[in-house]
Amino acid sequence: MSIQVVLTQPFTDQKPGTSGLRKPVRVFQQPNYLENFIQSIFDSQEGIGGKTLVLGGDGRYYNRQAIQTILKMAAANGIGRVLVGCGGLLSTPATSCIIRENKAYGGIILSASHNPGGPDGDFGVKFNISNGGPAPEKVTEAIYARSREIQRYQILQAADVNIDRIGSFKLGTMDVEVMDPVASYLKLMESLFDFDRIKDLLTSGNFSMCMDSMHAVTGPYAKRIFEETLGAQPGTVINGEPLEDFGGGHPDPNLVYAKALVEKMFADEAPDFGAASDGDGDRNMILGRKFFVTPSDSLAILTANAHLVPGYKDGLKGVARSMPTSSAVDRVAQKLGIDCYETPTGWKFFGNLLDADKVTLCGEESFGTGSNHIREKDGLWAILFWLNIIAVRRQSVEEIVKAHWQEYGRNFYSRHDYEEVDPTRAAELVEYVRSQFSSLPGRQFGKYTVALADDFCYTDPVDGSVSKNQGLRIVFTDGSRIVFRLSGTGTKGATIRVYLESYEPDANKHHLDTQLALKHLIAIAEEIAQIKKFTGMDAPTVIT
Ligand code: G1P
Ligand code: ZN
Repeated sequence: MSIQVVLTQPFTDQKPGTSGLRKPVRVFQQPNYLENFIQSIFDSQEGIGGKTLVLGGDGRYYNRQAIQTILKMAAANGIGRVLVGCGGLLSTPATSCIIRENKAYGGIILSASHNPGGPDGDFGVKFNISNGGPAPEKVTEAIYARSREIQRYQILQAADVNIDRIGSFKLGTMDVEVMDPVASYLKLMESLFDFDRIKDLLTSGNFSMCMDSMHAVTGPYAKRIFEETLGAQPGTVINGEPLEDFGGGHPDPNLVYAKALVEKMFADEAPDFGAASDGDGDRNMILGRKFFVTPSDSLAILTANAHLVPGYKDGLKGVARSMPTSSAVDRVAQKLGIDCYETPTGWKFFGNLLDADKVTLCGEESFGTGSNHIREKDGLWAILFWLNIIAVRRQSVEEIVKAHWQEYGRNFYSRHDYEEVDPTRAAELVEYVRSQFSSLPGRQFGKYTVALADDFCYTDPVDGSVSKNQGLRIVFTDGSRIVFRLSGTGTKGATIRVYLESYEPDANKHHLDTQLALKHLIAIAEEIAQIKKFTGMDAPTVIT
């Protein structure tokens, strides 16, 4: 086996976004495209030689080929050992867990998260660092800088290796360990949750659940955890077979895309509890019988009930949410007397807060919730957390949520996405809103008066780094908010996200339909941003 040095030329578009480098499969299939990016990771990481890396992906199309390429490149670049998930599978949270457990240098996750897969879908590469979390901006910037200069990459000339059998072998001088993707993760979950109590609930005969793995990576995890370990009925996990194209679906756990689950949960004979996770297993959606829990509420409810869960019973250090996430959790934090941090969108901003032990739980409105147990959001963890709460409280999802609103008030919340917008027009919309920043404060729109209009800027309280331009905020005097942001994960045109939040303390109004409760704010967003004019669209493409 010899090391081949391949001459190459830089691609100009290898800038990692909100969550790694995400592009259509066809872009990744261009000669040298994947190789350039992987070599840029190796070149920009000092001291990576001889170290351990974790490698796996969500099983989407191109996962298996990419694993082979990366293993051979790692061997040629002097990596000491690679831990790879059997079948090339590792969920994002499991990767984070394995990096931490093995004190690895970092990990490479092959996933475009919730974006569709298949030859015409998307592919992605994420690099995680030794704390198990996504590489922070200074690391991704260094990778990007390297990718603009790269002239050559190194790869071992070797036959493909067998990644479908658990075991260890050498590739050149590098050790490869093909591991069970589930075992470490399951052990971690058992250390946090009351599995006996959840098992009692699931085997009691009067509680049923449905878990939709959306033909993505959590299938094997969910079957092992819910059906084999916790005694849920066989068939509890639906769409549990990971497929390269996710069965043609869009593996994003929301009311629009998790169709199979939503149909079941809104039918007359619905199970008591429903949940779904995304392509790489870091997102979650929680449903009760004919009842949807917004991710922002879910974070608030987990925080308020954390004392019921063994792993969190000693109290929380603090909580964090991304700026566009509703402030429901802020109210809980206030009552608990703990700090609540507001970060820019993207999990990487939680890493420092978790490492510095400033927060225990964190979450985003985009169906992401997690804690200090790893450094990624974690779909199955959130689902187990809910099950643990239900197992203790023995109330339905709806009862738990409504009791929460009763105590804290309700933050009506919705996100409107406009996808595949002409990037120039999207940038113009942002500029147009920005141009009103000086005139907006004090302006009245019906019952709403603007208190603040700005571009969210975050100073990391741990390392002092500053992240500018993280979303446009229009905050009203009663705490209601409209936020405009451009997506950093889309691969086709621009996606404009409009986040709407309105606080309602009056329990008599908590039953209102969300879109109705937000209708004035929706109209104000249109007035301020002229969305129809700039996008040429009459309505959002996705509402969550
Ligand atoms: C989206 C979500 C964000 C999440 C990210 C990765 O990013 O909005 O909260 O962290 O996906 O899952 P966006 O496309 O908005 O940049
Ligand atoms: Zn994901």
